[in-house]
Amino acid sequence: MTTNAAWTERYTGALMNTFGPPKTVLVRGEGAHVWDADGREYVDLLGGIAVNALGHGHPRLVAAVTEQLQTLGHISNFFASGPQITLAERLGGLLQAERIEPVETRVFFTNSGAEANEAAFKLTRRTGRTKIVATEGSFHGRTMGALALTSKLAYREPFEPLPGDVVFVPYGDAAALEAAVDRDTAAILVEPVQGEAGVIVPPRDYLPTAQRIAHENGALLWLDEIQTGVGRTGTWFAHQNPALVDAPVTPDIVTLAKGLAGGIPIGACLATHGAGKLFDPGNHGTTFGGNPVAAAAALAVLDAIAEEDLLAHASAQGARLRAAAAADSRVVETRGEGLLVGLTLAEPRAAEVVTAAQDAGFLLNAATPERVRMAPPLNLADADLDAFAAAWPAILDHAIDSAGVTS
Ligand SMILES: Cc1ncc(COP(=O)(O)O)c(C=O)c1O
Repeated sequence: MTTNAAWTERYTGALMNTFGPPKTVLVRGEGAHVWDADGREYVDLLGGIAVNALGHGHPRLVAAVTEQLQTLGHISNFFASGPQITLAERLGGLLQAERIEPVETRVFFTNSGAEANEAAFKLTRRTGRTKIVATEGSFHGRTMGALALTSKLAYREPFEPLPGDVVFVPYGDAAALEAAVDRDTAAILVEPVQGEAGVIVPPRDYLPTAQRIAHENGALLWLDEIQTGVGRTGTWFAHQNPALVDAPVTPDIVTLAKGLAGGIPIGACLATHGAGKLFDPGNHGTTFGGNPVAAAAALAVLDAIAEEDLLAHASAQGARLRAAAAADSRVVETRGEGLLVGLTLAEPRAAEVVTAAQDAGFLLNAATPERVRMAPPLNLADADLDAFAAAWPAILDHAIDSAGVTS
């Protein structure tokens, strides 16, 4: 049997060093549980960073992928497939769900979040305007276009010059948007909750106000729901969640990826009304995007979320998880909605907490030095949640000098 150590040594010799050393080498997953090469079991409370919506090896997802691969695995986009068309229709229906007026949606499928944002970025150029108003703390991906929309200097600077005419304003600040958006603005781009920045929730009137400002200036409202979409916050899209918005929001563009196909690579750029018709033939393309296997996987995920009542489950489990974590006074604040969970620590020890949690058999992530993030499967079982709740105080004991914090 190849051990963690042996795999890690081979990893270092074979892969580019973009992610730093792996935290462990995983070999198997089932439900919310994964096992590493040394045979250690973990409860996966990160879910591939908000990707494994149904956990690992969900029978419905496995069956859908297997059956589709046996039937028709890949075609080029010179041809169409039933799963691709059905998935586009289903996503359009989910966007329509909360709207009174009929909305026409058009979809472009990709293989990742960054590519979905690239497609959307190019779409906005077809308005004849080039300026994008994005937000500080934003994360939209690592390709050159998506990186131009991402604010973090450490990610941007080594690769400049990036595509220009992107303005960053403080997140959650409607007055700053008002001041920055003008008749040259092609789109306002925001995450309904900032994920990578540390699960930052804006005021409930932020998205409705952003929409008003966009429309007053003839600009598009583009929501990056790559991390927040597909049930993550307890509604299909975060912009439909009454806990996050105080009035209906009807974005012109929504980008999706991560949880959409439960772990099979996929992304989608959804555009409504006129925005859905901005591309002409030849304006954009992809070899794999809309691949029948990925589309079938996404349909299985959407079916499972609907039929297993996972939106309500994610809301309830998210509330329980926050309450359990916050029961310890070394957590000074909880953030997020549904199963996108941020825990602010009294001290900047998130990295130590993540290590202590892994030692105790739980996979978490340090979004920022003081904030721990969790994005577990939407079908997270009570037993796994209870196990985490029981282990949490000891994890904090190991990671934090409790005397220093409570004094
Ligand atoms: C909000 C948001 N947008 C875009 C991306 C990029 O997605 P991908 O890593 O699939 O390219 C991410 C990934 O974390 C994200 O959270």
